Amino acid sequence: MLLLTLAIAALALLLSWDFMRKRQRVATFKRSKISGPLSLPILGNGLQALSLGADNIIDWVGESFRIYGKTFRMWILGESLVYTKDLKHFEAILGSTTLLEKGQLYKYLRPFLNDGLLVSVGKKWHARRKVFTTAFHFNVLEHYVCIMDRHSAVMVQQLREVADGETAVDMLRFVSLAALDVITEAAMGVQVNAQSDPKFPYVQALKSVVNIQSDRMFKFSQRFDWLFSRTCPVLHCKLLGDIRIMHDFTDKVIRERRATVEQARADGSYRPLSLGDPEVGRKAQMALLDILLQATIDGHPLSDADIREEVDTFMFEGDDTTSSGVSHALYSISRHPQVQERIHTELVQVLGNDRSTPVTQSKLQELKYLECVIKETMRLYPPVPAVGRYTTKELQIGAQTIPANTSIYLVLYFAHREAEYFPDPLAFKPERFLNAVSEDRETFAYLPFSAGPKNCIGQKFAMLEMKALISKVLRYYELLPLGSDVKPMMNFILRSPCGINVGLKPRKP
Ligand code: HEM
Repeated sequence: MLLLTLAIAALALLLSWDFMRKRQRVATFKRSKISGPLSLPILGNGLQALSLGADNIIDWVGESFRIYGKTFRMWILGESLVYTKDLKHFEAILGSTTLLEKGQLYKYLRPFLNDGLLVSVGKKWHARRKVFTTAFHFNVLEHYVCIMDRHSAVMVQQLREVADGETAVDMLRFVSLAALDVITEAAMGVQVNAQSDPKFPYVQALKSVVNIQSDRMFKFSQRFDWLFSRTCPVLHCKLLGDIRIMHDFTDKVIRERRATVEQARADGSYRPLSLGDPEVGRKAQMALLDILLQATIDGHPLSDADIREEVDTFMFEGDDTTSSGVSHALYSISRHPQVQERIHTELVQVLGNDRSTPVTQSKLQELKYLECVIKETMRLYPPVPAVGRYTTKELQIGAQTIPANTSIYLVLYFAHREAEYFPDPLAFKPERFLNAVSEDRETFAYLPFSAGPKNCIGQKFAMLEMKALISKVLRYYELLPLGSDVKPMMNFILRSPCGINVGLKPRKP
């Protein structure tokens, strides 16, 4: 009897504590007419979340938009989440210079990115963002294009083995290794040769960390660190081990590069980076790392730990995103023969018939139709399907208020598929981006690189890389519509559980 009384008292206490902590947010949602699935006391929608994972969350979010409108809320225990595809919300949130804190899901990036540019805020973020602008200067990009060209040439060689015109090839397998080679050399100035040695420990560790952490976002039993280490001790150990491998590698590269720079300073051969230097883009070791090693913030150089978090951020941001974009573009092209023919004609016109001539930045910029194809691909398959922010105080948007302490996810994937802005939204039509009318379209309707102060700093790099890789593949191979169709799956990056498949047939030289 005593036990029962204690249990009832404990439950009553728990219920009132839960009521109190959610009270204000519940009231704000009600007042703003932001509804969502029925939420239970304490658990919120936790039980429903048990059945959600990377493979079905897109369908669930789409269905919820249909039922609850352009903005809906959800509760996971005490966490409040808002999903929106309303452009008014996009504009208010991304246009804000103060709302820069990321949504709760970004906490899964912190163990390996620490406080790098993507997740940092305030003075630190602002100062670092200024430093990075140098890394994407026009002259420096020219050097990156050489790296892209070299590694895309390796990729077309690797594809020879599977290019028999009959085999369905998951392009992500090939593209992601090529993109990793590109970003490692661009970020750190070293070659890991992931394409010829996919078992290189750093390459395997990066892939494993990204997979484990993306999976955890949706699995209730793994969502909280304290629960994850208890429910999945083996996976938890693997995660820590892989993060150590990544950090040890980055630390070693930074130490070695710093020593080389210091040696050069000592013997007088050191030439600091200057964007006015006509040779800047052609320097053999012009990696992001060099820019970070030379940078000072408030008169102080960056420490090894500062540099590591930024290099790791670039490795994460620069690999999977571009791979997803390139693979989905190749997939879409394979399913649209007329589009493929038009790109090929443009490639021959701009780049000529000699496939061994390296591409340059200005040549890639001339590929206007290919650019439209990439834009249309990222409309239907945005590599980053949603971006998140976290409100530290109430946010008024028109008649609606988003409560404080709430994660808000702007679901680009669905915003890009709104018929209001993109007539016949599910059709793949690169021409949408050709004519002047498309430029007048509401800015916030199309945001593959996000917008506002925390938009993608690597977007010019990404566009050049996607063009370099896609153009190389199409100059060597005709793409065929083989293999199963993609099934969009949302984690940090858009993927497809059944692969991103095409067939390849060698073109005559
Ligand atoms: C198709 C390729 C890419 C896409 C679609 C993409 C998309 C995005 C998006 C949507 C964001 C904003 C995220 C947010 O607001 O939460 C972002 C941020 C960022 N991206 Fe990219 N990205 C791509 C490639 C790259 C590349 C190649 C690099 C580096 C070389 C890069 C570096 C970054 C960094 C450092 C940030 C954080 C910026 C900040 O917070 O100030 N991205 N990217």
